Amino acid sequence: MEEKASNLKPSRKGFVTNYPYFRQWKKIKPEGMTKLEPLIIYLHIPFCMQRCSYCYYSTTTLQGKKRKEKLNKYVDTLCHEIQIASKYFQLKNRPVISIYFGGGTPTVMNEGHFSKIMEALHNNLNIENPEFTVEAEPVTLTAKKAQTLQNIGVNRISLGVQSLDNDIIKLCNRLDTADRALKAIDIAKNTADVVNIDLLSGLAGETMESWSYTLDKALSTEVESITVYKMELYANTEYYRKIRSDAIEIPSDEIELDFMNHALNRFEEENYLPWSFFTFTKQGLYENVYASDIWRGTDCYAFGVSAFGSLGNWLFQNTNEQDKYITLVNSDKIPINRGKYMNSLDQMIRSIMLGMKLSSFDLNKFQNKYGFKLQTLCSDTLNNLEKEEFIIVSDDYIKMTNKGLLYGDYTGKYLAGSLMAFYK
Ligand SMILES: C[S@@+](CC[C@H](N)C(=O)[O-])C[C@H]1O[C@@H](n2cnc3c(N)ncnc32)[C@H](O)[C@@H]1O
Ligand code: SF4
Repeated sequence: MEEKASNLKPSRKGFVTNYPYFRQWKKIKPEGMTKLEPLIIYLHIPFCMQRCSYCYYSTTTLQGKKRKEKLNKYVDTLCHEIQIASKYFQLKNRPVISIYFGGGTPTVMNEGHFSKIMEALHNNLNIENPEFTVEAEPVTLTAKKAQTLQNIGVNRISLGVQSLDNDIIKLCNRLDTADRALKAIDIAKNTADVVNIDLLSGLAGETMESWSYTLDKALSTEVESITVYKMELYANTEYYRKIRSDAIEIPSDEIELDFMNHALNRFEEENYLPWSFFTFTKQGLYENVYASDIWRGTDCYAFGVSAFGSLGNWLFQNTNEQDKYITLVNSDKIPINRGKYMNSLDQMIRSIMLGMKLSSFDLNKFQNKYGFKLQTLCSDTLNNLEKEEFIIVSDDYIKMTNKGLLYGDYTGKYLAGSLMAFYK
């Protein structure tokens, strides 16, 4: 019998056979125990048409004579990695629920490249009818490319638009123009079930007028999904160098906050609702399985140079040196370079930090998974966040308010921080 520690008297009676105790067990069938864990697949394509001034991603421009050779070699290596890593980690039978080609700019690849990769995926993994996203830069999305994407089963296209104001685009050193972007959006809409466009809030030269113009134009395309990233300034970017030499200026944090506030109002007016604090979709539908399931803890195997993912208790990342990646894979070595084993506390904190990105957090699922009631563990923190109007807490959910959405990861970091402090 389960007894309170305070009621226990020293005794040699009452041998423990198991825990949880048998009386807590329920009738089950063996099929219920063998469910294969679902899997997400990420493929990194580290090439772009140009290097955008604000971009901090690990990517190189495809220029010069060796352009084709470089890309061909990378794609062949990626296919080989798919083969050796799937075998090594026994991924073959796990149902793939989402495929995501990210970058860089995956649409710099041609039909032959895409076909080769798809063949490797089908030969080595269990792919039936997953959500299938490809990131694209508008200038690369021709009607022919779109046909290729449709042929291989892509059902979601995510276009990096950033701005629809030509003066702002020019300062970004992109090959796109507003017209090209709008044309690519049209092509994408005729190709995939769901089209997402990325916008960047806080670009150089942006004013409320130009930002509001971009938002209105973006909404007028009626795409299913609009993602707004806050432009983050990194030291490895052209923006950073230009700002330091006073050649350009970016909006202050306060002004950027006004831009985002305006965006929230416009989205609400047009019934684009958040399913994450930075992605707004028609009626809040079209949740992106790739992102939301990773945040909820589904494994993601990531192929390609510098790609990072998770398997069970492990987080891992491939080497970020392209030559090394190619040499390792072609000598049949898994190119993983670093990783982190997550203990139960890491996993619990991760589930809050990433889970709060979804703007709504399921408290019952948390308790079912970790056994703890978050409302008890973090009651003061939850009260503070609620008092400051970042969240609303009910019995079942934590929901971000508009102020919470505006401050992005702050709520998740604050909650996770209180849990860390509690346990350390
Ligand atoms: C890997 S890119 C994929 C799209 C494609 N390469 C393009 O730019 O058209 C993904 C997104 O990252 C975002 N991004 C790039 N640099 C950023 C920065 N400094 N801060 C915040 N977001 C950034 C952009 O909005 C971009 O669309
Ligand atoms: S924003 Fe996109 S196109 Fe520009 S450099 Fe970054 S990944 Fe490449």
